[in-house]
Amino acid sequence: MLSTKIKEATRTPHQEVEKKVVLRIKNVRSEADYADLLKHFYAYFNAVEQAVAPFLTTDILPDLAERRNASFIKSDIEDLGGTVDDLPAAAAPEIHNLAQALGALYVLEGSIMGGPYIVQMLQKGGLTKGFSFFSGYGEASGQKWAAFTAVLNRIENEKEVEQALNSAHQTFARFGDVFEGVEAI
Ligand code: HEM
Repeated sequence: MLSTKIKEATRTPHQEVEKKVVLRIKNVRSEADYADLLKHFYAYFNAVEQAVAPFLTTDILPDLAERRNASFIKSDIEDLGGTVDDLPAAAAPEIHNLAQALGALYVLEGSIMGGPYIVQMLQKGGLTKGFSFFSGYGEASGQKWAAFTAVLNRIENEKEVEQALNSAHQTFARFGDVFEGVEAI
């Protein structure tokens, strides 16, 4: 099953991205710091969403319109008094087909699993708002994840499996790049 393979194949890149994000969260001291961190998420998630959009329809993912997207990050930034001007540089991986699009979307959708931990860390640091993005689908997160992985698992062709795995790997790596060269806040 692709959902099992992709999880194993991206274990290390996940750990690397998680480390970078945790480090940034630990350095958040104010709402402005948190808004700045969110700008990194916004720049990247927006770029990846635009790259995958041409390949995703409601035929593929019936609940596409209900899925979390970068507009939640924009609302959170604005809730914190920030704007989406002056975004950090962010480059999405190249997406040329559905298998690659679903591999990339795996990373965006899967990131919801880390959301509750991220909210907890931010709350410990004194933050009280701007959590709509990291709250994911709340109690529906498990069900939404199952629906997504069911779609992912329709990819069985060896070449397409390989394309999805590479795309997920690239999607983690490019996200890590967004934090490169940027000093922790
Ligand atoms: C503080 C940061 C993060 C923490 C603590 C965290 C933690 C977790 C945890 C606990 C899971 C569930 C693992 C399981 O059920 O086996 C998970 C899954 C996942 N996370 Fe993260 N995560 C973080 C950040 C991210 C980010 C920024 C991304 C992507 C940009 C991401 C992508 C994923 C993916 C794709 C999965 C699904 C793995 C699977 O079951 O296939 N995570 N994460």
